[in-house]
Parts: sequence; C-alpha cells; structure tokens
Amino acid sequence: MLPPILSASKLDELEIMGRGKQNPAPPSLQTTAKSLCGSLRRAAARRGGEALAVAAVVVAIAATHDVGACATWAAAMAPPAVAAAVAYQYFLRFRVYGAWPSAPFPTTLPLLGNAVVAAPAFMRFLLREAKKRDGLFLFWPGGCRPMCVVATPAAAKAVLGSSRAFPKGEDYRDKFGLVFGDGLVTSTGEKHARARRVLGKYFAKPRLEAHAPSIAAIFDSTADELWDARLADGPCDIDVQEFFHIATLRAFCKSMISEDILTWKLEGYEARGAVAKYVAKEVSFGSNVVGEHMLYNIPMSRAFPRVRRLAASCAAVRRQVFMPLIERRRAMVRAGAAPDDCLTALVASDGDEAFSDDDLLDQLVTLVGAGHDTSAYFCCYGALMLAKHPDVQARLRAELSEGKSEWPDSLLKRVVMEVLRLYPVIPMVTRQCAKATDLVDDHGAKKRVPKGSRVLVPFFLMNRLPRLWGDDAAAFDPDRWLPHQRAHRSDGVMLASQGFLPFGYGGRTCIGYALALLEMRVFFGRLLDRYVLEDVPGFAPTIKAGVSLTVENPKGIKVRFRKRV
Ligand code: HEM
Repeated sequence: MLPPILSASKLDELEIMGRGKQNPAPPSLQTTAKSLCGSLRRAAARRGGEALAVAAVVVAIAATHDVGACATWAAAMAPPAVAAAVAYQYFLRFRVYGAWPSAPFPTTLPLLGNAVVAAPAFMRFLLREAKKRDGLFLFWPGGCRPMCVVATPAAAKAVLGSSRAFPKGEDYRDKFGLVFGDGLVTSTGEKHARARRVLGKYFAKPRLEAHAPSIAAIFDSTADELWDARLADGPCDIDVQEFFHIATLRAFCKSMISEDILTWKLEGYEARGAVAKYVAKEVSFGSNVVGEHMLYNIPMSRAFPRVRRLAASCAAVRRQVFMPLIERRRAMVRAGAAPDDCLTALVASDGDEAFSDDDLLDQLVTLVGAGHDTSAYFCCYGALMLAKHPDVQARLRAELSEGKSEWPDSLLKRVVMEVLRLYPVIPMVTRQCAKATDLVDDHGAKKRVPKGSRVLVPFFLMNRLPRLWGDDAAAFDPDRWLPHQRAHRSDGVMLASQGFLPFGYGGRTCIGYALALLEMRVFFGRLLDRYVLEDVPGFAPTIKAGVSLTVENPKGIKVRFRKRV
C-alpha cells in the first residue's frame, strides 16, 4: 500500500499544480524533468515509502513549471515525508529484519544507508562486513529498504537453486531490461524455458570443440593487427582490454551466429573494425551503468545522461546492425542455405515456439552482450595474473605446448579456477524473494527472508573469505586446487560445495560456460605461444564491481608484452 502522501493521484496533483504557470524552464530541462517525473512516479507507485522520490518530483516540477508554488509544497511536505521514511527504515530494520545483523550508525545512516561508506570501495566494504557478520547480513543501498546479503555457500545455493522462491526480480526487468529487453538473461517462466530449449544444444561441449580452430585463427589475426605492430621495436606496455573485447566478440559471433563482425555496418563507424570496437565499448559501458543502478537501486530513468546514451546506442545497434542481420538470415532460411547455429535456430522457430522481431532482437542483444564481455574480462585478469606470476606462466606454457591440457587435472584448469576465484567476472547477482523463506547462517541460526526482499549473492565475497579459503584467501595460488589440497571435490561446473559459483547455480546457470572455457583454453594457448607477459612495475588496476568486474579507464589493465622469438 502506498502511504497517502505518495499516492499516484497526489503525484499527478503535484505535477498539475504548476501546469500553465509562469517561469518555464528551457525545453531540454523540461524534457529531463518530465522523464524524471515519470520514472519517479512509477518507482513510487511500485514501492511506496520512498519519500525521496516525492522530494525529487517536487524538484522536477519546479524545474518544469512554477518554482514558487513547488517550493512551498516542498517546504511543507519534505519534513514529514523524510520523517516518515526514516521511521519506515527503522521499522524495517528492527522489526521486519530484526534477526539480520547490519552495520551500526554511523556506517548505516538514515536514508543514505551504507551508500556513503560503501561507494568508494563497495567490494572492500562488503568483505569487511561479511568477516564480521556470519555471512547473512543487511546492506543498505540508500532509501528505506535493505538488501539481504547471502554470503554463505549453502544459503547462496538455496537462493539460486529455487527460482520459485527467489526469481529474478525488478532489477533484471527494469534495469537489465533497458538493454537486454526480455532475452535469455532477463525473461522468466515459459519465455525463458523456451529460449533455453531452442538455444541449449548450440552450447553443448562436444559441439563447441569444432570451433577451436576458428577461435585460434581469430586470436592470431586480431593479435597481428592490434599488438604485433606495436611490438616491432621491442617490449611494450599494453592495456589488454580492447584486444580481448574484440577477439572474444569476433569469436562469439563467428562460432554462435556465423557472422564476421568486421563486415557489420553502423552509421558513423565506417572504418574496418570500428563497429566491433564500438559494440565492445558500449557493452562494457552498459555493464557499468546497469551495475551501479542495480546496486544502489536507482531507477533507469532517461533523465540520467548515461542512461540516455545507453538507450540510444542500444537502439542504433538493434535497428542498424541486428535487424538487417535477422532479415538476411530469414532469406537464407527461406533459400535453405542457412548455417546451423543459434541465430538460425531462433529465426526458424515456428508455431508456438516462434519469436517475434522484438523477441529476436532481445535474444541477439543478450547473446552478443553476455557472450563476450564476460570472457573478455576473464582473459584480461588471466593475462594480468600470469604476468604477475612468471613461474606459473612458464609452467602453463610448457603444459600447453606439450598438449597436456586435458581439462580434469591440468594446470590450465587450476589457473582458470584461481583467476575466476579472485576475479569472478560476474561478481554478484540479485534475486527477489517471492515467498518468505528461512536461510541458515554460518552458525546454523535461521534467518527469515521476508517476501519482497531484494537478495544479493556476492560471488566475489564468498571467493575471498578466509573462513572458506584459508588465511591466504587473497593470494593467487592455482595449486590450492590440486586434489589433495581441496577440502571437497565436485563433478559439477566448479566447486559448488565450497561456494565457488562463478557461472551461477540452479536453473539460471550460465548457458555459455563451456564456450567461455573453450575460449580460455584456446586464447591462453595462443597468448603464451606468441608472447612472454611481464608485470608492469607499480601497476595495479582499479577494479569496479558492476554487472561485471570492470576496470576504470584510462588506467586499464596493463601488461608488458615481449614477442617470443
Ligand atoms: C568467464 C565467462 C563467463 C562468466 C564468469 C559467466 C557468468 C555467468 C553467471 C554467474 C550467470 C548467472 C547469472 C544469474 O544467475 O543471475 C550467467 C548467466 C548467463 N550467461 Fe554467462 N558467464 C560467462 C560467459 C558467458 C558466455 C560466453 C555466454 C554466451 C552466450 C554467456 C551467456 C549467459 C547467459 C545467456 C546467461 C543467462 C542464463 C539464464 O538465465 O538462463 N555467458 N553467466
């Protein structure tokens, strides 16, 4: 129920009040203010209690219409609204979430929650909290409502393993949805099941193996173009992000939709490879924007210039790149000349399984976005770790050159797992509790997740907890994965029993994990065959946790490259 002060009609009333009065703001400000009004009204209608939304609406109306009348409204309404919101926050904290520990004042502030303390180094903040508070605790992202942080392996699996009690919630629909629409990452229920049914077989391991030679060729041609010219005069410090984003994007497109992205056309990006660079850059940018809005529960309103830029680039790519691609593929299907791949499977589905144009665009944006940014960042962190650990690099080069990298017991597998442990490319996922559910903390105590709660499962945090990984949890040591060193073994994707879930868990596990592992094997093989990687003295990347673990430019992820003779 919305408190009366926040009812949708009151919000309309607020907006109407100023209509037609003097003092209009410039048109661009009016557009921004109107869009902000709309988003805030939707946010308030959904959640209630967010008195800040009302304050912001008042500000927006003031910008659009009558400053004087709105200032009076704001002055009259703000204090009781803020007081009500703070009271609501404390009610939630001590009554509804009474069993859940959370940081005391001043780390948790009225309405601002943990945002002020956590914003500069979110991951470090959560890690500190997790060490103090038994794995299940509250994070206050700002506003009235907390997030339940679930950082114990058993509870994390209980959450991710139950799509009914903990479905993907409004974060996915409203925030990811701006980019991914209703594709495989964001859809739920039958729509999700249908997409997985149609696409699943293309991600099966045996089928993927056939793509290894073309993925290796893409690595080589991209490296010839982007790296080798720079290395002609000797060793060079290179930010590896651009290379790995382009190489993984090309590899994904070639193997899963039989497309050469270097031939794609987009207005303003005519140079060879310019579209690939643009798409790769915008996907990373989108991951940052969506991640921040998700974490701090900020609406994806077009009032924010970054959201506007994201929506515009997404619309341009959908219209100019993906729609022509779908039409070309339809023609190939009609002519009986289409390759057997994900895109053909989507386009050729008919009857109850048919995908509309919008569905097809959503699935394509999702696959291309999710299918390369993750693998690219993995390769970046992998290259960085190998550069910083020359002994591991030398051993891995020897193993790969002898062709001994059979997956189950190889050093390659241990390196991949250790890189994913320290740098889980998807650092966290969220869910929404659809049914009040009890979870158990590290000491066996039950904590109830109230219906409607937002739940955060932070992989990066579980992967670095000394109580799970030992005192050297922060050190890069691939040999911790040797069978005799492990407390548990698993035949699953990874070591789920210890809470190591880099590809997720349950019904929403990553569909592309086998492709990612194949790319890692091929790319590391080519990388270490062609180059020696060295540490750049004094360099450390500044890593940010968004949807993926990204790195702040212009620092980038620098590695010193030396060509092998
Ligand atoms: C290092 C590489 C990768 C990592 C660490 C990774 C990680 C993840 C994680 C943790 C999830 C679960 C998200 C959740 O539960 O909310 C996920 C889902 C997903 N991943 Fe990946 N991923 C990687 C590579 C890929 C690749 C290459 C693809 C290729 C298309 C892909 C496509 C997807 C899709 C479509 C989903 C949603 C699956 C669903 O909900 O049914 N990922 N990924």
